[in-house]
Amino acid sequence: MDKMEKIVSLCKRRGFVFQSSEIYGGWEATYDFGPLGAEVLRNLRNLWWEEFIQKRPDIVGIDGAIISHPRVWEASGHTKSFADVMVEDTVTNKRYRADHLTDKIEDGMTPGEVEKIIKKNKIKSPDGNLLSKPKSFNQLVEVGIGTTESSKTKAYLRGETCQPIFYNFNLVKNSMRMKLPFGIAQIGKAFRNEIKVGPYFFRTREFEQMELEMYLHPKDSDKCFAEFKKWSIDWLISIGLRKENLRLRDQEFKERAHYNKVATDVEYRFELSNKDLKTTGGEWKEFQGIHYRSDWDLARHGEFSGHDFTYKNEETGEEFIPHIVEYSIGLNRLMLVLLVDAYVKEEKRVVLKLHPQVAPYKVAIFPLLANKPKLVSKAKKIFSTLSDKFSVTFDARGNIGKRYFTQDEIGTPWCVTVDFDTLEDNAVTIRDRDTMKQERVSITKLEEWFLRKLERVC
Ligand code: GAP
Repeated sequence: MDKMEKIVSLCKRRGFVFQSSEIYGGWEATYDFGPLGAEVLRNLRNLWWEEFIQKRPDIVGIDGAIISHPRVWEASGHTKSFADVMVEDTVTNKRYRADHLTDKIEDGMTPGEVEKIIKKNKIKSPDGNLLSKPKSFNQLVEVGIGTTESSKTKAYLRGETCQPIFYNFNLVKNSMRMKLPFGIAQIGKAFRNEIKVGPYFFRTREFEQMELEMYLHPKDSDKCFAEFKKWSIDWLISIGLRKENLRLRDQEFKERAHYNKVATDVEYRFELSNKDLKTTGGEWKEFQGIHYRSDWDLARHGEFSGHDFTYKNEETGEEFIPHIVEYSIGLNRLMLVLLVDAYVKEEKRVVLKLHPQVAPYKVAIFPLLANKPKLVSKAKKIFSTLSDKFSVTFDARGNIGKRYFTQDEIGTPWCVTVDFDTLEDNAVTIRDRDTMKQERVSITKLEEWFLRKLERVC
């Protein structure tokens, strides 16, 4: 089993991630997050919101609709340009983006042009089979909105979360009395009809994004772009990602989305098996983007809606359409990267060395024996005190060794055991996940001990 297969198995066994609709045979490229996965996602949303919104007086957050007016997606350019040329392996029926199979395909080429290149260069699928006729494929997910079949209007599930941030620019600016440069951020679901999905939940059709759009004068765009690059990496390291597995890579012109003038990817180095690398294009994988979108978004929404997005600098009198520098990260993809980075197989145990702020539970509380009411009641009291402050779990099943094994596998940084000495000295044993060292701490000092530990790792 390679590392990714082990993580898939752990995530299912321990309640992090399930294939969606498993009892119906599963639903391709869609996942449900179980109790522990939901905790990790919630922690990441909170950490991101605190860092990118709460700590900044010049950034505010919104929660926009998933389905907006269909004109939004015409203005954004997605109905026309959010398309890839797709080919199918004629034997296995696996689908591929044509430009992932050869570097001879330029951005914007029609299916006919792609077909000529495939024929001329005798390009085959990664499994060595003939390819089907190329087809253009738009990734927006269509929905019919309305109460009767005949009155249904074609709309789209949002293909990126940022569009409500753009069309609400003036409403947010005026209601919050913001002055340029300022940012609007959002966390939420996005949907794409991806041609090629996986591995696991790295690329799915339903996912969540955390996006920040900074509105500014064009002269400030380079400075903001550089600041975002540093901020991104610093934050990722602060939530536990290993620096040596991260890098920034500037996108080439042909890789850039239609709205981007400049784009830099934040990439993570996956240690995947050779088979995975062959079908997913190398070990470095993008999981975040920093984009200079220029005035594309506000200018286009102005043109399509007739609304005026001109910003007036009250001090200089200058009027202009604000430009945008964007920070965009996939929440689920970030979670997968963190799991892969944290997964360690040691001789006798598997440990998820997740950062304590990311781990589903901060502390596990055990009574040494489940059939000793005094120990159980003391442990339950500790649970009830600590659960006021952070996410904790209680476990009285099996022996202590097995309980440690389970908590290591789900990344719980500290385990607390209530034993017979506790009844005498009112102290407990704290065991550290990473060092496996044990320390005796008085119950009266416990809350403070964990708060200090959590503060130190923040
Ligand atoms: N608003 C800009 C934007 O959406 P993007 O590079 O297409 O840019 C940003 O997406 C991030 O969203 C990616 O870096 C990735 O983490 C996440 N993402 C995009 N498509 C995804 C998919 N199909 N499944 C999971 N995450 C995805």
